[in-house]
Amino acid sequence: MRLIIDTDAGVDDAQAIMLALAHPGVRVEAITTVTGNVHVDKVVHNVFTVLDLMRARVPVYRGADQPLVPGFWEPEERVHGADGLGGYRGERQTRGKTEPEAAAVALVRLVNQAPGAYTIVALGPLTNLALACRLDPSFPDKVGALVFMGGTISALGNTRNLTAEFNAFCDPEAVLVTLDAFPAATMLSWETTLKHSFSWQQYDTLAGLGTPAADFFHAITTSTVQFLRQFRQVPGYLLPDPLAMAITLEPGLIVESQHLYVTVELQGMLTRGQTVVDYMGISQRAPNVHVVTALNTAGVYDLFYRMLS
Ligand code: BDR
Ligand code: CA
Repeated sequence: MRLIIDTDAGVDDAQAIMLALAHPGVRVEAITTVTGNVHVDKVVHNVFTVLDLMRARVPVYRGADQPLVPGFWEPEERVHGADGLGGYRGERQTRGKTEPEAAAVALVRLVNQAPGAYTIVALGPLTNLALACRLDPSFPDKVGALVFMGGTISALGNTRNLTAEFNAFCDPEAVLVTLDAFPAATMLSWETTLKHSFSWQQYDTLAGLGTPAADFFHAITTSTVQFLRQFRQVPGYLLPDPLAMAITLEPGLIVESQHLYVTVELQGMLTRGQTVVDYMGISQRAPNVHVVTALNTAGVYDLFYRMLS
């Protein structure tokens, strides 16, 4: 698999990137960055921190520094810390340098060089993807597969717009542009994230494996875990981006999905950024998204265990 990762790294993005780098048979050919959990400058730094840890060399491209329509975005520091890596105090010096091309330009170039060959997994706001669609209308048809973490499927969100998920909430216009343009995409929603957590015992086992990767996992997640454990609605250790990455790397982990028309609310005073799912076909719009509703969490745990061991 030839993989491009679009990310707003981010604690869970970091784990997803590690899963991809550790997976045999997958070549991560580019990482594109976007403002989301934190500003893109911090995202770039975090990506290089992960690449250094994994001793991997992958071209990194700086992407959009704000959503298509500014004014709504704010960093998610409660979950990811001010730095985006949970206040990680390990080796923070990185000599990594971004490529000169902008992320959206690189996305367009790469898929034109090898139409149909790339899988893109989007782990943050879809700003870069939307820009690539606008730069080159043939871009979506030349992407082999698009998997994204984002959106809600039954209005259970995690932002101050209570029905909206963070990535979609950050840049709703980008969701609209991307979903309208792509012939197909696979969606890993917030509700599916809530249904597929690790138990706290599983988290403790992984965090205690004693390898450099496991120590890093432990260090970047400690404050996130403290934050999440306050909520009785949070059933265990949540894995939004890692789940999206897991089903990208191993589509066989998908247990159930539905092919549906999905779009997004742009106006709602309380609901801007909520993705809207036509689950009965009432709109008569052609289905554009494979909405994943169940997956094999034990298989995801195995991927983590192998990656951190
Ligand atoms: C998504 O938002 C971000 O905080 C996470 O990295 C993930 O991509 C979950 O809603
Ligand atoms: Ca993310």
